[in-house]
Amino acid sequence: MRDLTRYGIPAPMVMVCIPPALVLAALPGVYRERIRALQAPQRDGFGRFALKSDAWSGRGANGSGTAGGTEGGGMAEPGIILRGFRILPGHLDRAAQTALVEDLRAVLRVAPLFSPQTPYGRPMTVRMTSAGRYGWVSDRTGYRYAARHPDGMAWPAIPDAVLALWRALVSDARDPDCCLINYYGEGARMGLHQDRDEADFSWPVLSVSLGDEGLLRIGNRTRGGKTESIWLRSGDVVVMGGEARLTYHGVDRIRFASSTLLPQGGRINLTLRVVD
Ligand code: SIN
Ligand code: MN
Repeated sequence: MRDLTRYGIPAPMVMVCIPPALVLAALPGVYRERIRALQAPQRDGFGRFALKSDAWSGRGANGSGTAGGTEGGGMAEPGIILRGFRILPGHLDRAAQTALVEDLRAVLRVAPLFSPQTPYGRPMTVRMTSAGRYGWVSDRTGYRYAARHPDGMAWPAIPDAVLALWRALVSDARDPDCCLINYYGEGARMGLHQDRDEADFSWPVLSVSLGDEGLLRIGNRTRGGKTESIWLRSGDVVVMGGEARLTYHGVDRIRFASSTLLPQGGRINLTLRVVD
C-alpha cells in the first residue's frame, strides 16, 4: 500500500481506508455472519426499534393490545431485524438465564421432556415439553396443541419470569397459552417450518434461547427461496410477529458445549404462543 502518511494523512486514517468489504471477507465465518446481521437494521432502515407496540405489527395499532411507542418514553433496546424477526441479543443476563433454568427444572420435574414423532412416524431430534394451558405435541395423529402431556398430566403453569418477558416485550393485554420448551442435545436440529397451529396469527411468537448456540435459519413465507441465518446465543430473545409470523424458520445445528449455562450441555428454546 502507498504510504499515505507522506501526504499528511495520519496512520489511523490510513487504516480506515481499507474497504469494509475486504475486512469482512477476511473474518472467520462466525464473525462475518454476526456483523452482516448487525448491518441488516441499517439496510432495512431500522436502526433501533421500540419494543411492545413496534416489536410486531397489528396488536398495538388496532387497540386490542398495548398501544404506544417506546414504553415509558425510554430508550428502545437496540436489536437486529432479519426478515422481520426481531432479535434482541443478550436480552437476558447470566443471572436471569440461570434463574430461568431453575424455573424450567421445576417444570420438567412435573412434565418431563418427551421425544415426539413426526406425523410420518419419524422421531424428532429435539425433546420437548410445555407449560401453560396447552402444550404442543406431535405424533402419528399430527401436530396439535393438547391440554395434557402425553403421559397424562396437566402442563405446569408458565413460570412468572417467562410471563414477565412476554408482558414486557409483547403485550400485557393477554398472556400466552403455551410455553413450548424444546431441548436440543448434541446433533439435534429442527427443519424449516412455519408456526401455524394457532388460531390468530396477529399474536407474535416470542422465543428465548438458553445454553448452547443454535444456528437459526430464516426463509420466506412460502417454502423454498433464499434463506439467511444467524447464530442465537444464550439470553437472546426473538420476536416473530407481523411479516415474520408465518415465515419459515428452523435450527440447522447447535454448537454443542459452546455455553456453560447447562452443565450437561445442549440448548433450550422456549417459544411462547397465544393458541386460541
Ligand atoms: C421453533 O421454531 O420452534 C424453535 C426455534 C428455535 O429453537 O430457536
Ligand atoms: Mn417454530
